Amino acid sequence: MTTTKTRFTDLLARIAEANTAYHTHDAPVMSDAAYDALRREAEALLATHPELGDAQALAEIGAKPAPKFKKIIHATPMLSLDNIFTPEDFPEFCARIRRFLGLDDTPLEFVAEPKIDGLSISLTYEHHKFTTAATRGDGTEGEDVTANLLTLKSLPLTLPKDAPAKIEIRGEVYMTKADFLALNESQDKKFANPRNAAAGSLRQLDSSITAKRKLSLFAYAQGESSAPVAKTHWEYLQKLQDWGFAVNPLSKLISESAAEAFQTHIGTARAALPYDIDGVVYKVNDLALQARLGFAGRAPRWAIAWKFPAERASSVLEDIEIQVGRTGALTPRARLTPVNVGGVLVQYATLHNEDEIARKDVHIGDTVELQRAGDVIPQIIGLLKRGEHTKPFVFPTHCPVCGSLAVRDTDEAVRRCTGGLSCPAQVTERLIHFCSRGAFDIEGMGEKTVVEFYQDGLIKSAPDIFRLPEQEQKIAEREGWGKLSAANLTAAIQGRRTIALPRFIYALGIRRVGENNAKLLARHYGTYANWRASMQAATEIGSDARLELGSISGVGPAIATDLAAFFAEPHNLATLDALETYLTITDAPSAGTSDSPLAGKTIVFTGTLSMARPEAKARAESLGAKVTESVSKKTDFVVVGADAGSKAKKATELGLKILTEEEFREMAGLN
Ligand code: IVH
Repeated sequence: MTTTKTRFTDLLARIAEANTAYHTHDAPVMSDAAYDALRREAEALLATHPELGDAQALAEIGAKPAPKFKKIIHATPMLSLDNIFTPEDFPEFCARIRRFLGLDDTPLEFVAEPKIDGLSISLTYEHHKFTTAATRGDGTEGEDVTANLLTLKSLPLTLPKDAPAKIEIRGEVYMTKADFLALNESQDKKFANPRNAAAGSLRQLDSSITAKRKLSLFAYAQGESSAPVAKTHWEYLQKLQDWGFAVNPLSKLISESAAEAFQTHIGTARAALPYDIDGVVYKVNDLALQARLGFAGRAPRWAIAWKFPAERASSVLEDIEIQVGRTGALTPRARLTPVNVGGVLVQYATLHNEDEIARKDVHIGDTVELQRAGDVIPQIIGLLKRGEHTKPFVFPTHCPVCGSLAVRDTDEAVRRCTGGLSCPAQVTERLIHFCSRGAFDIEGMGEKTVVEFYQDGLIKSAPDIFRLPEQEQKIAEREGWGKLSAANLTAAIQGRRTIALPRFIYALGIRRVGENNAKLLARHYGTYANWRASMQAATEIGSDARLELGSISGVGPAIATDLAAFFAEPHNLATLDALETYLTITDAPSAGTSDSPLAGKTIVFTGTLSMARPEAKARAESLGAKVTESVSKKTDFVVVGADAGSKAKKATELGLKILTEEEFREMAGLN
């Protein structure tokens, strides 16, 4: 018979083991509910048998904060790549580059590199010594995995004297196919593919575990550097190799016209390679051109990932489910008999909208063809075999969640629920968006938690999220939670009460205001107070504020209408009032360009410039200027090219400062 004492000792040991698994190894061995049950039993024993020991010992076991990876802010953001899929896309990509730079037909030169299916990493060297390694994270802030990188044999720990004193090198950590198979063989926990295995191994708080997993590294990109390293990307790769980094041996310097053949060549070599790749990355070789091209949104203009063709499969369309998004859009989703498509189990595919279902002529019960390309949601391509006794799908005219009428504007493909905030689907989707990565990024408030909290009345609107810490006790008592998780959630929420303006604007989930537009707006208006006041003023059609909003380059009248509609709703204003009481919204970053004479200025370009318009605009913006399409009292500079018309005239009438292209180039540091 177990004595109370042995039971108590056993409980303490199991709690301690669960703590180590949770905190140190990032791999919980039991549910929070089971953990809580153990603790409750131990506490009860201690209450009835005080002789068992020191209550403090038990209190301490679970009270440690979860040690997490330290965060590292990337000196320059770690961005992603735009994708292309077909041979026609590549010349188009080249044409875009030429248009941006105003180049003639001279072929461009590229470095083509296999796109490694792993995780990107940033490696910093100071005074020629390896100092830190960070994961990509959200692009701005990554996790400090220095100790784990040190376990990679292929990582150079010192750089030779010809390397800059401070340099950041980027690359991909991956696991070879052979090491992945061996790892899965050796343990019960199976990883789905080498990429997941690499991610799981790199994100270990205990680096001795990483040391046992075999990870590899290819270096392929530049981060910050105290001195230039090369004039071309190809030369840069040679340098990396000289410094001891592994550079992918299949990388090749090619001319624009050779891309298609190279793509086919790598596609053929793919299966026999010792590691997974999912395409080829093409990078403009000339680094001066790269700098001029810069970035658009989250991806560079000077590189593209040409992905391998989508994997196809067939399956049975079991049902068409209608999902309701945060702006009320009704989106049909195909539920399929689960099928393996190129190594990934697929059960759902998008059907886009009601016209698409009709166009593809698919009925529930049909056998359909589907495809999956990269990380894109799988798509239904079309009908393979008509099922028995099937009939065309009738798209609902009412919201399947709240029952409100769903309407379709004449020029729109999408049908939308008119329920607004009375539609639970729209509200939960907005809340999910609010907490998501690019927005408030609240760890612990994932989709499932938001839905549950909403259903149980813990949160009804965004401000309620910041009231959750007051309910920590109640959350701790919820099934599957427990004290630790509830405390972590409180910490995560409190940690997000300071937020940058672009993220805040994006988090509001206003129709058509994605991350890009949120950034444009934040940069234009600078502060939250100014943005809010201007948006409220812009609700009036024809007002100066509305004209200003619509003329921000990249925003345009349609988005202005959506913003005005948002600010015209009293309940949205009430939400903003409430959020303001919890938050500190920091001003839009001026990107360290305050010393440029263009910083903070509003510029209009007009007439023909010798420099291509897109480049001129991007350059001005990167220096902190706001580029607008129309001239008004608020315009600081009008850059006038050849054959300028009404805008130049208006600028003179208003007595604005007019610049020649040459003067602009001077101010923009281009001469
Ligand atoms: S260059 C500014 N080169 O692909 C972008 N990326 O889809 C710099 N990747 O996050 C990236 N192989 O993790 C580059 N040869 C290669 C790559 C590569 C794999 C990954 C990388 C990036 C992702 C974008």
